[in-house]
Amino acid sequence: MPTTDFGPFWPALSLASRAGLAYPSVMTDHQRLLIIDFGSQVTQLIARRLREARVYCEIHPYQNVDAAFLRAFAPRAVILSGGPASVTEPGSPRAPQELFGMGIPILGICYGQQVMMTQLGGKVEAGHHREFGRAYVEPAGAHTSDAIFAGLFTGGREEVWMSHGDRVTELAPGFEVIGTSAGAPLAITADAARNFYAVQFHPEVHHTPQGRVMLQNFTRLAGFTGDWTMAAYRDEAIAQIRAQVGDGRVICGLSGGVDSSVAAVLIHEAIGDRLTCVFVDHGLLRQNEAEEVVGMFRDHYNIPLIHADESELFLGALDGVSDPETKRKTIGRLFIDVFQKYADRIEGAEFLAQGTLYPDVIESVSVSGGPSATIKSHHNVGGLPEKMGLKLVEPLRELFKDEVRALGRELGLPDSFIGRHPFPGPGLAIRCPGEITRDKLEILRQADAVFIDQIRKHGLYDEIWQAFAAILPVRTVGVMGDARTYDYACALRAVTSVDGMTADFYPFSHEFLGETATRIINEVKGINRVTYDITSKPPGTIEWE
Ligand code: XMP
Repeated sequence: MPTTDFGPFWPALSLASRAGLAYPSVMTDHQRLLIIDFGSQVTQLIARRLREARVYCEIHPYQNVDAAFLRAFAPRAVILSGGPASVTEPGSPRAPQELFGMGIPILGICYGQQVMMTQLGGKVEAGHHREFGRAYVEPAGAHTSDAIFAGLFTGGREEVWMSHGDRVTELAPGFEVIGTSAGAPLAITADAARNFYAVQFHPEVHHTPQGRVMLQNFTRLAGFTGDWTMAAYRDEAIAQIRAQVGDGRVICGLSGGVDSSVAAVLIHEAIGDRLTCVFVDHGLLRQNEAEEVVGMFRDHYNIPLIHADESELFLGALDGVSDPETKRKTIGRLFIDVFQKYADRIEGAEFLAQGTLYPDVIESVSVSGGPSATIKSHHNVGGLPEKMGLKLVEPLRELFKDEVRALGRELGLPDSFIGRHPFPGPGLAIRCPGEITRDKLEILRQADAVFIDQIRKHGLYDEIWQAFAAILPVRTVGVMGDARTYDYACALRAVTSVDGMTADFYPFSHEFLGETATRIINEVKGINRVTYDITSKPPGTIEWE
């Protein structure tokens, strides 16, 4: 199922279910660009920038790309990524030589530039000219008006981000310099006749402000028309689901999060009532959450939905448990049992839907540059399909998160669902450090609801990656009216983040914090002290447990 997950102990999705990744996706008949990954930390950003320009692209590690792969993928253009290796080292990564004879445009970035030069007959020297950070590139030669420079250099030069150790000392035959910087005389080189381009810097990162235009110019020159839209994807995905499922039945674990919600609505469009959703209510949801999810999917979308209210089971098992890992493991184990119990009741189900996203399935090149590709572990429920003998349906596996949101809008899901902050699988259990009691959960739900209401009222919800309250396992003394109180303290947490891997606390105004604290203490019986958590991640984590 579920795109809900329970943390690192969760088994990674089985390799078998990902076997399809070793060869190109056949999902789409869009114009396709291939990114050959040599292990740069920022390869995913190349794909992001291209997708934003409505160019369909896939990232594949260099180890998987041979001549047969290239023929099967039939890319309209190829980008060679950066990477940590040095082409001067024996056995360092290369592109298949056949690539350069395919007659298609190729762009080499950083290490990719050096691969191109080396394989096409130029020379690269190791080491002594390290250059990191900001640099300025100016056009060179008579190429300023070429299509590759459209909209660029209007101010004479462009800021770029360099990060390299080696450098090209002799251009491959046919190449000439078309852009230089103080530290990199061969910053941009081209064999314009063959549409081969090579850049020393990284156009994909935000620190290269016009990098998006540079990449887009390359794709235009390769004939991409920007045909990758969510409206087209919706139709293709529906056809694909129908072809895969035939007249079978699908089970989908619904968490109410954006991924599982979009997957469910899409699959329902494809196969109607042969989809059944299972919504496991573990008693650790936020205020009104179960009603909202059930109302939306069962009542509004008419999707067959089992509301598995198993709160007694979960809260019973968590009674007296205060260790964070034990909590997570208990919830994870029960979740699988419960999901399986309900799934078993759906007769004839052969498929399990998962809201797996593209970043979950991109294989990354091992940093050592060795031949073994590692697969990024991710948090979706693994093991379950095998255990239950189910085949996976993963209609979002080619999409990035913001594309899933766009698809959700295309499917008519309300913004209130699409823009929701992430909510962890173990739910409020990890926002209630120490022992979990029903009383504490109720207090926490109310405080959280007031905090989120404040954030919405002040128009801040969409600026924040995630915001929530945690109830602390401590009671403190206060005074209300003339009476002494002895109640719980709560901590408010709100962070900005791009991917949840790093985060910073959100800089609320003191007025906002004061008003929110007053409201919580006035409106929530059981809390008499409010604190604001200003820890960044690292060293903190976003959740409290
Ligand atoms: P941390 O606390 O690790 O959280 O900084 C990073 C992001 O991951 C979410 N999170 C989880 N999501 N199952 C989930 O589905 C989990 O077990 C889990 N633990 C943390 C967290 O809410 C934040 O968005």
